[in-house]
Amino acid sequence: MPKILWNPSFSIGSAVLDEHHQHLAGLINRLAECATGGAHSEAFVDILCELAQYAKYHFTHEEKLMEEHGFPRRQMHSGEHTRFCEAISDTSYEATQGCCDIEHLVCYLSDWWERHILQEDMQLKPFFAALGGN
Ligand SMILES: [Fe+2]
Ligand SMILES: [Fe+2]
Repeated sequence: MPKILWNPSFSIGSAVLDEHHQHLAGLINRLAECATGGAHSEAFVDILCELAQYAKYHFTHEEKLMEEHGFPRRQMHSGEHTRFCEAISDTSYEATQGCCDIEHLVCYLSDWWERHILQEDMQLKPFFAALGGN
């Protein structure tokens, strides 16, 4: 997977959420780098655990903003967050059991970055623009 390199076109118009997304990109990049060390390496499991915790923290914040501003797609959007948490939780369990398919995980994360962050989260941009940023 090519490394995710942050660029200004990824901004959804919220300094806080952009910072969160940059942190998530860093964790995804670190997991992809771990691919060579195998899914059972301690570093891999630690980063996966950090991703699960940080994603929950980020989703809580993002969902609160969507709720506060009456974002119309928030239910569908929150559903995607829930499914992501479930997928990472399942993968974490598999990693502790030594049967995690790391390539599948890296593909999933890359796809999620493209489809969720760069498309679904991007739908929030006009809302933040109307509010003058968040
Ligand atoms: Fe989101
Ligand atoms: Fe997000």
